[in-house]
Amino acid sequence: MTQTLTLICPDDWHLHLRDHDMLRAVLPYTAAHFARAIIMPNLVPPVVRSADAAAYRDRILAALPEGSQFTPLMTLYLTEDTDPDDVAAAHASGLIKAVKLYPAGATTNSASGVSNFDKVAPVLERMAEIGLPLCTHGEVTNPEVDIFDREAVFIERVLDPIRTRHAGLKVVMEHITTADAADYVRSAGSGLGATITTHHLVINRNHILAGGIKPHYYCLPVAKREEHRLVLRAAATSGDARFFLGTDSAPHTDANKLLPCGCAGCFTAPNTLSILAEVFEQEHALDKLEAFTSRNGPAFYGLPANDTTITLIRTPVHYPDHIETPEGPVTVFDPLMPLNWTVEAT
Ligand code: DOR
Ligand code: ZN
Repeated sequence: MTQTLTLICPDDWHLHLRDHDMLRAVLPYTAAHFARAIIMPNLVPPVVRSADAAAYRDRILAALPEGSQFTPLMTLYLTEDTDPDDVAAAHASGLIKAVKLYPAGATTNSASGVSNFDKVAPVLERMAEIGLPLCTHGEVTNPEVDIFDREAVFIERVLDPIRTRHAGLKVVMEHITTADAADYVRSAGSGLGATITTHHLVINRNHILAGGIKPHYYCLPVAKREEHRLVLRAAATSGDARFFLGTDSAPHTDANKLLPCGCAGCFTAPNTLSILAEVFEQEHALDKLEAFTSRNGPAFYGLPANDTTITLIRTPVHYPDHIETPEGPVTVFDPLMPLNWTVEAT
């Protein structure tokens, strides 16, 4: 039986770090295991202009533990007023690696997102020209669309028309949760990829709703039926270069999760790699783990894979059930199974 796993150092292609005290509390968990991460811009206020991204990057770098080599890959938050020249300049300087599309109202801090997709056509046109990827939160927000259907409807009503109109635009479908999304990625030509979270490989909608409501499993897009989870597991463990890890680790304090109207998000940064190793082992695909965590993402973004490695050892994993932050405790995602792959301390 394999006792150690050495992987090219992973990257996280979708991560929420927040800001200030929360940033300082959560960043060390990602920086301990990942070399780089695509940093989500849904702060309050959002990271809209290149100057905002530069300032946020500086705050992240200042919050890193001493000696950490972690590199934040910045994004801009797309609004209907985003200036294509500002985006192009931020790309040309190397400051940003993607622009994030939130349909207005789709999720946490998305109020400044896009309602009229025609209004962002000039930005998307420029992004297609310069090869800057668009990361999408793929859910429509129309109240008449059932929340479990919002990803599939987004593909049909929003994403496919955008990709037809802007041929050549590189798109990452973030945190896919459905067989519809996995099929759409597989059916598309080059230039379309998808991130898959750790938690969507583990939970289905029963985990949230059956036997009592479990706010710590509530995230957006919400986990779907078991058949969708199985498709996601097959995609992630297939080695297919179009699928790669984006944890969507999204810390919220317990006080903000355990409300009549609680926040969406699972905090998975501390145990993500151990959970993934467990999932890949269950699927007899440990040999595909490195593609998912460390090779496919850089290849999609046109970046080299990392030249460092990380080792996991077959030994029971110990992780906290919550972390303390100055804003209050944040519960760590419970995968409901023992974890047996511990990331070796470096
Ligand atoms: O569950 C989620 N949490 N989904 C998102 O899209 C946003 C994120 C957050 O920022 O908390
Ligand atoms: Zn997210």
